[in-house]
Amino acid sequence: MELILDTADTSAIAHFNEYLTIDGVTTNPSIITKSKKEFETVIKEILEILDDKQSLYVQVIATTCDEMVEEAKYIDSLRNDNIYAKIPVTSEGLKAIKACKKIGIKVLATAIYSANQGFLAALSGADCLAPYVNRMDNLGDGVQCVLDLIQMLKANNMDTRVIAASFKNTRQVHELITGGIQSVTVPTDVLANMMSHPMTDIAVSDFTNDWKTAFNRTTLVK
Ligand code: E4P
Repeated sequence: MELILDTADTSAIAHFNEYLTIDGVTTNPSIITKSKKEFETVIKEILEILDDKQSLYVQVIATTCDEMVEEAKYIDSLRNDNIYAKIPVTSEGLKAIKACKKIGIKVLATAIYSANQGFLAALSGADCLAPYVNRMDNLGDGVQCVLDLIQMLKANNMDTRVIAASFKNTRQVHELITGGIQSVTVPTDVLANMMSHPMTDIAVSDFTNDWKTAFNRTTLVK
């Protein structure tokens, strides 16, 4: 399974990249604006952290097909490989996804709020799909919707990758990993909660204290 960071916070990307195996970074317009940096600056900084195998996903802003395709071409030009244009699954977006497929631009179909929408984006040629788990949870059952989408793709022998997105808690991530999700893109607060447990810190502290009491040092070898 792929673990992707859903942030444009370059300090956080560098931090998690040091401690975990990170497969890429997803951004969207709101995430970019939160960085308070110019678009080109933040993308350049993220690319300085990522290695060639780690993917970057950048979203178009335009809302008409032709303009979305132009922006997707620009996004595609930002890097030699492993860059995806994120295109929202509106009607114009579906048309743009078809057009991008024809000219070989890699696409992550995004802002997916139903399994049917995701499935249609896959039929249009999207390389991957980003269903919005928490946002769908607010309207019904986001996790189930993603599981349905996975099943629809499987039933049709389609290898379109599902990158579950829009997580607000570790339970949502856990349920999708259990359900066989291929990729998750998680915000840094959710990932931090997945990584640590206060009881682990207490256990380690107890081990250290016992060792120190017995041997008056806190390392294995003298
Ligand atoms: C990622 O690709 C999405 O843009 C993102 O996960 C949306 O998350 P949000 O619902 O927290 O805005």
